[in-house]
Amino acid sequence: MANVIVVGAQFGDEGKAKVTDLLAKNADVVVRYQGGANAGHTVVVDGDTYKFHLIPSGVLYSGTMCILGPGMVIDPKAFISELGALQKRGTDDSMLKVSATAHVTMPYHMLIDAAEEDSRGDRKIGTTKRGIGPTYADKCTRVGIRMEDLLDGEVLKAKLDYLVPRKNVILERLYNLEPLDPKAIFEEYFELGNKMSKYICDTSQIIFQLIQQRKNILFEGAQGTLLDVDHGSYPYVTSSSPTAGGACIGAGVGPTYVDRVIGVSKAYMTRVGEGPFPTEQFGEVSDNLRQIGKAWAEVGVTTGRLRRVGWFDAVLGRYSVRINGLDCLAVTKLDVLDEFDEIKVCIAYRDPKTNEIHNELPSIAGSFQRMEPVYTTFAGWNRSTNECRSYNDLPVAAQRYLNFIQEQLGVPVAIVSVGQQRDQTIVIEDPIHGPKRVLTRTNSFS
Ligand code: IMP
Repeated sequence: MANVIVVGAQFGDEGKAKVTDLLAKNADVVVRYQGGANAGHTVVVDGDTYKFHLIPSGVLYSGTMCILGPGMVIDPKAFISELGALQKRGTDDSMLKVSATAHVTMPYHMLIDAAEEDSRGDRKIGTTKRGIGPTYADKCTRVGIRMEDLLDGEVLKAKLDYLVPRKNVILERLYNLEPLDPKAIFEEYFELGNKMSKYICDTSQIIFQLIQQRKNILFEGAQGTLLDVDHGSYPYVTSSSPTAGGACIGAGVGPTYVDRVIGVSKAYMTRVGEGPFPTEQFGEVSDNLRQIGKAWAEVGVTTGRLRRVGWFDAVLGRYSVRINGLDCLAVTKLDVLDEFDEIKVCIAYRDPKTNEIHNELPSIAGSFQRMEPVYTTFAGWNRSTNECRSYNDLPVAAQRYLNFIQEQLGVPVAIVSVGQQRDQTIVIEDPIHGPKRVLTRTNSFS
């Protein structure tokens, strides 16, 4: 029995879905605990590509229960449409559950998210415009609509009669947009609630019962550590807690029930949207990083935006190990580096203002913005890794690269992904039952 959290150790889009998919094979339940339709997860099975935004990718295994947890924000229209597409391909939804207390993303959330973002000018965050921030804001100011409210016409109507006129003030006066009609929203969302009713339940209780039955539970994070609202590169973050601690809150389980935390990192780095990115590359290196893995094109799954790309950042990696308590790492997309003559890893930052070297992430947002990377350079391996199925199959230079990442972060690299297909995966050591984190890195850069 093991209850495992999978988190993104970078800025999101680390390839978590592939790792979750691999681990879901042995899981009884997959639980998503935060975020909403801003997430974009891609899984390739037998050459077929599946894109997920709200529903855990574990749904591809029949017999695996999939839960959208209380910490999520759910757009019912996006849910119905994603589910419909999966059902058309024969996916079984009989084990799908949606938390009654998850918050609902409403039409005004999406309008306000987009209007706020467009009005920010230089201060824009680059949100996905899926209404995520405004939905979490309503949750925290205690006026949000929860999934359970969609099932109770009286409650839903009363909430909308209170909320929509207030949202209309914002829409009309601040953003010069058309007001919304509470009655039309009520009719549409009551109907959507009806359609979703068979999935809505108390998911925290189900999870607890499964824990008591010693089932295997996989908690699937969306986005990544550096997008966490508390621990990420604020304000360039999402509005939820993708970090491991967020899994307990967002799923409704106590931390003592969690056995393992697995971090997922790309072998390099990407970011969608605005915000600091010390190892960001432009020109030839970025073109190559984007283009080499054609099937792995660096385009946002949700928004279709081109991802910013850069070298692996071990400072952020160590931060992610610390904040999440990572036991081990899954490194994805190693094959994208196959054709590089040289590959860099950022091992520390230099502050150009003081010339000081920082081994840790500066906690002050302004100083993080100006940090310059200090690199170690590796010779590339100039050979395809797509067919490698064990650590020993990998070119020696690739092994050296992975060993260096492992030493820098102080946790073992347990899984390496060398392509999009399920079988293009190297399991170096069992990420769930293998040794726990080793914390070997005692020497700091000087
Ligand atoms: P929001 O979550 O739509 O509010 O966007 C806030 C920030 O998080 C923006 O920089 C987005 O690009 C980023 N973001 C949100 N979801 C994802 C994701 O799934 N992958 C990568 N970046 C994301």
